[in-house]
Amino acid sequence: IDDKLRALLLERITDVFDHPNPGVVFKDIAPLLADPDAFGPLVDVLARFCTAVGADKVAGLEARGFILAAPVALRAGLGFVPIRKAGKLPGPTLTQRYDLEYGSAEVEIQRSAFAPGERVVVVDDVLATGGTVDAALGLLRRAGADVAGVAVLLELGFLAGRSRLATALGGAPLGAV
Ligand code: PRP
Repeated sequence: IDDKLRALLLERITDVFDHPNPGVVFKDIAPLLADPDAFGPLVDVLARFCTAVGADKVAGLEARGFILAAPVALRAGLGFVPIRKAGKLPGPTLTQRYDLEYGSAEVEIQRSAFAPGERVVVVDDVLATGGTVDAALGLLRRAGADVAGVAVLLELGFLAGRSRLATALGGAPLGAV
């Protein structure tokens, strides 16, 4: 990714203070999605990552991850698999619990989402603490897939998500714009 595109993408992400809770700075990607001259090249970049790591499928995380992962999968010529918040997908499903700043949450995948050994890239908008992606990678492995990599738009480095994911990645690359 060249510096000009990176600058455009970052310019289209807005900081919203105290949303959804006091003290939280929410990264709003709506302005980026509303600009096809930013959204299109972003999809291209993420799709090239998927191709470069030899992915067979792209998994997206509900909800904002879906918006990126589905066009990325199509652009790369790959199938898309949704990882959803618990209780949404028809069974049989696999469930993984993970910790949030306050409390916990659960994500799910359909047990039959992958053929054994399929190489999967997880795509999401923001990597913060890494808890969500960590849970997603756990689900992929339990579903019999191999982790080919993780691609996110924005990595919040100060939250150390990358180091939290070291074990789950098992040497697979983590790419961020
Ligand atoms: C946000 C974001 C990532 C996750 C990152 O999703 O889209 O999936 O949080 O945080 P983490 O690295 O600390 O786990 P959120 O749960 O707000 O759901 P949404 O996409 O439905 O808005």
